[in-house]
Amino acid sequence: MKSLKLAEKRRSVREYKNKKLTEDDRKYLNQLIMEKPLIAEDASLEFVFVENGEKTAKDLDGGLAGYFGKMIEAPHYFVLLSDPKSKCYKIAGYVGEWLILNATKKDIGTCWIEVIDSEKVKEVLNIQSDKEAVALIAAGYPKKEYKLSNIYASIKRGSISALTDLGYPNIDSGYSKEIVSSRKSITEFVFIDEWGNVPDVEELEMRGIHEALFYMRLAPSYKNRQPWYFIVKGNEIDLFIQQSDEISSCIQCLDAGIAMFYFEVGLHDVGMKGKWNLSDFETSTDIPKDYKIAGRYQY
Ligand SMILES: Cc1cc2nc3c(=O)[nH]c(=O)nc-3n(C[C@H](O)[C@H](O)[C@H](O)COP(=O)(O)O)c2cc1C
Repeated sequence: MKSLKLAEKRRSVREYKNKKLTEDDRKYLNQLIMEKPLIAEDASLEFVFVENGEKTAKDLDGGLAGYFGKMIEAPHYFVLLSDPKSKCYKIAGYVGEWLILNATKKDIGTCWIEVIDSEKVKEVLNIQSDKEAVALIAAGYPKKEYKLSNIYASIKRGSISALTDLGYPNIDSGYSKEIVSSRKSITEFVFIDEWGNVPDVEELEMRGIHEALFYMRLAPSYKNRQPWYFIVKGNEIDLFIQQSDEISSCIQCLDAGIAMFYFEVGLHDVGMKGKWNLSDFETSTDIPKDYKIAGRYQY
């Protein structure tokens, strides 16, 4: 299966079967963690597997992790630890999502969980590390099975989606009764050459990036805020993240890293090889103050 197709299948799983991961699936995940993608070499990340999810959910519930301090109960968790630097946080997002997409291949359900108090989380889980616990990733078998077509149910009526362009005119979007997180249409977050210069889908098609963008929108983000904006120019694409005073810089960087991973997977799948450069780039003065460049894809 192309990685892009996995993006359609992945979703945040918040209800799990009361069943531990099989030996084979644990081995598979452990192996993945040992073979992290190249970018991980620029950040010394750690993944700590938590066996007893039931106890952990109780111990962390009530303020240490999860939206509003509410934990998601799962058979297991990974604790993702990183140095407290923005570049490392972005790489943590990238690598965490890489793990998630690969877990999806084996029908292992996952969900990012916000860490509210890193020190306490480490203490409760007895993790001896100087690094920061930046997020948890829940892992287990989803309670419900989802058809691939479910995702299409989320596309808002009237929005300019690329569905028809991608040859999916007959999607059975009435199938799902499940609530699926909605997504922006691609022309809502892409500019050509400069900020504010909104392209039409044909222009994105001409540049060969419409399909990658279409799937990119399926990337998870904190509270589904989809804070990404892209400026496409020549052989470079800049990713901007809308900043918020209410969200920690760690989470904003995780969102950036996750988006970078998805977009890269999409671009690679359509044959546009390249990679993200996470240097501190200067940006032109026409970028609104609350948007910050997170990386530049060069191909
Ligand atoms: C960094 C990060 C932290 C998240 N934390 C939580 C969380 O604590 N609780 C939760 O229910 N979902 C959490 N999510 C999941 C998002 O809410 C979810 O990805 C988004 O709503 C889109 O839905 P989808 O993943 O099903 O496509 C988190 C996502 C990210 C990227």
